[in-house]
Amino acid sequence: MQITDLPTPQVLVDRPRLLRNIARQQEAATRHGLRLRPHAKTHKSPAIAAWQIGRGAVGICCAKLGEAEIFADAGVTDIRLPYPVNPANAPRLLALMDRAAVSIIVDHLDVARAWSDVMRRAGRRLDVLIKVDVGFHRCGIDPRRIDARAFVRAIAAMPGLNLRGLLSHAGQGYHAASEAELKQIADDEAALLGEVKAQAAQDGVALDEISVGSTPTFRYTLGQPGLTEIRPGNYVYYDRTQVALGAATPDDCALTVLAMVVSKPAPDRIILDSGSKTLTTDGARGIDTPAGHGAIITDLVPTPASAVVDPSLVIERLSEEHAVVRVTSGTTPLQPGDRVRVIPNHSCVVSNLVDRIHLVDGPAVLDTLPVAARGKIF
Ligand SMILES: Cc1ncc(COP(=O)(O)O)c(C=O)c1O
Repeated sequence: MQITDLPTPQVLVDRPRLLRNIARQQEAATRHGLRLRPHAKTHKSPAIAAWQIGRGAVGICCAKLGEAEIFADAGVTDIRLPYPVNPANAPRLLALMDRAAVSIIVDHLDVARAWSDVMRRAGRRLDVLIKVDVGFHRCGIDPRRIDARAFVRAIAAMPGLNLRGLLSHAGQGYHAASEAELKQIADDEAALLGEVKAQAAQDGVALDEISVGSTPTFRYTLGQPGLTEIRPGNYVYYDRTQVALGAATPDDCALTVLAMVVSKPAPDRIILDSGSKTLTTDGARGIDTPAGHGAIITDLVPTPASAVVDPSLVIERLSEEHAVVRVTSGTTPLQPGDRVRVIPNHSCVVSNLVDRIHLVDGPAVLDTLPVAARGKIF
């Protein structure tokens, strides 16, 4: 089957690029002595997780228990949930622990105590990492505001928990305004985690794992001292945001949306059939934030995309089923019935919207994979 045989819109994943992204990230992590534990939120596909693990990843991360259950069903045996899982989910977490090595994060003493009690009653111990807020100000203890040393001591003393180490996610890297700022974020992250670890050591608490990870900071994290694990997710597909942040080139972007021109109301306006239900409304972020809802590639066969992204086609507006494209050059040869590919602003949320992705190589559709963990929001 050829990509032109597919009804549109569809999500395509270029298999050579996907495998290249997996291999490159693994090689970089291994070269720096870091364990790679990809976040599966981007692909939500057991087949892709198997490729990552086959290449050397130590396991995966999931945000939600429902996702983890799908991957455990598929045979993944080491799953980390860098998400503040609430003890209301204790029966499901205990069941998951029967099938895989499971770890979660803690950042609140009451919640941690509740998990410890659950585990003691069950005669188990739960592997936990303390989530440290390194500047994203989402979850995590902030060592600049609370006594991190006392927090670590308290968690280490909880009998139902096995404190493995520290974990952070420098999500503020997505808002960096320069390469220098991205590097500073990675430097500060490693330094802060190192401080907390050193303080804990003074109390005799060993923090064996220091886990960091995000795709924008990946390249600056590699050389940092003291880290043991890295957890990027987006790197399998990349997207327009990663290109704008300097983490990837258009040629690295494995996921594209195949869309069709369905109307041409004016010479300088075309309509694609990929609206917000396909591309999502996520804007691009980046050092030079690009305008619009995706980068349009008019060449259907994935050649080095940097040569074929058409900057004169700007996806200015989305309705649920329509993308309104302004032709800044005033005219385009594209006509209704023509197909284009779109590099989305944020690939993780795009893959969550479709039941399956099509693996392609050039114009050929090689296989169709279910996005088995999509929509598993609890
Ligand atoms: C806790 C955590 N770890 C790792 C990641 C992976 O980061 P990225 O999507 O930048 O690869 C995320 C992404 O949201 C995350 O929330």
